Amino acid sequence: MDKIRIRGGNKLNGTIQISGAKNAALPLMIASLLTDETLRLMNVPRLADVALLQRILGNHGVDCTIKGKRPGQPSMAGQTLDLCAGEIVDTTSPYELVSKMRASFWVIGPLLARMHEARVSLPGGCAIGTRPVDFFLDGLRALGAEIELDGGYVVAKAPNGLVGGTVTFPKASVGATHVVMMAATLAKGTTRIENAAREPEVTDLADCLIAMGANISGAGTETITIEGVEKLHGATHTVLPDRIETGTYAMAVAMTGGDVMLEGARPDLLEAALDAIKASGTHVEPTNSGIRVFRNGGPIKAVSVTTEPYPGFPTDLQAQFMALMTRAEGNSDIVETIFENRFMHVQELARLGAQISLDGQKAMVEGVPQLTGAQVMATDLRASVSLVIGGLVADGETFVNRVYHLDRGFERLEEKLRNCGAEIERISV
Ligand code: EPZ
Repeated sequence: MDKIRIRGGNKLNGTIQISGAKNAALPLMIASLLTDETLRLMNVPRLADVALLQRILGNHGVDCTIKGKRPGQPSMAGQTLDLCAGEIVDTTSPYELVSKMRASFWVIGPLLARMHEARVSLPGGCAIGTRPVDFFLDGLRALGAEIELDGGYVVAKAPNGLVGGTVTFPKASVGATHVVMMAATLAKGTTRIENAAREPEVTDLADCLIAMGANISGAGTETITIEGVEKLHGATHTVLPDRIETGTYAMAVAMTGGDVMLEGARPDLLEAALDAIKASGTHVEPTNSGIRVFRNGGPIKAVSVTTEPYPGFPTDLQAQFMALMTRAEGNSDIVETIFENRFMHVQELARLGAQISLDGQKAMVEGVPQLTGAQVMATDLRASVSLVIGGLVADGETFVNRVYHLDRGFERLEEKLRNCGAEIERISV
């Protein structure tokens, strides 16, 4: 299994091209199931999760073609995928595939809307908490679906098609908002989603569905209204830049010091995280082509954060910010409110010498003057990358094991960091 080896101590200087957002690309690919015409997605990141979803969609009959790099295109440019679900050959998504990636459960929405039936394995637990699917099922029931659980599968049927309804989520859920919004595009009549997730990836999906002929208003607010249409058609859509990758590299620069241009990043997608980085003593400067992040000398200041749904501080940057705070001057509190078990990185950061104590959903970080390299591993991708951030300043060598977690969500991580002067390499063992 591959490992990442890092020798800490180098500042980061240079340019990092920000990739298309994983968490936008996945639902956008799933939206291809809604039409028999081709959906062309540009700026799709080259990630293990994208490749796995191609296989899962292929199983339903989606024909997926990857367009090659065009002459003159920079090597970090995202790929173009043509997805065509001309004929859906199977409405079942089996356990073997869904259990590998929770987001693949989301096929239930488009399959039910277009084929009036779907049989999708329950995704099960995962490393960051129990993550139930009750909001999805209640949302689809509100659109007239009959739902049963059978041997670990959700069996959903709407023999006469879905009908519009009002869905009020008890708590904003990104996935449930994606699914109900996709399902409602082909339902008869009007659907209102109340307490919808406002994440930029929801807005990106809505923009793509609108380009496919859907009638959607209010995406990005708490109330989304969808007027069902008879049919959707093909479209071309560019995946928005990855705000979590952006925040991760910005925090890496805040940690090491240096001066890096995050090319293609959009500051409006992560204002809360950028505010926290600025408060920690790092300069953040929006430019015409992205975001410049620099810290030359000066201490890292302690800043407390609480994760919240968008536009608050994102849970997907909590581990990375904690890594930064391990080297701050002073104490900070990091409170996780989205997932109940997303502190798996705490004990691994401790292996690098971090001082962190836990009290339920709150981590109390006492900044230390130096981290020390060690063997570490993590069980989810954001936790894994927090260990890379720690390793970039740790004294000596850090080995991050279970690299496949990083490959799920960060495109060419070690290449991007190495190009900015980090001593980092992948080794096969
Ligand atoms: C999405 O997960 C992201 N995944 C996650 O990113 C991200 O952490 C999360 O949103 C929150 O921003 C993708 O986009 C592929 P939720 P999702 O439904 O949709 C509870 C990463 O690292 N809930 O918004 O699964 C749930 O348990 C990943 O890239 C229910 O109770 O998250 C959580 O407490 C990890 N019942 C809260 O809602 C339900 O039926 C929000 O979760 C659904 C959710």
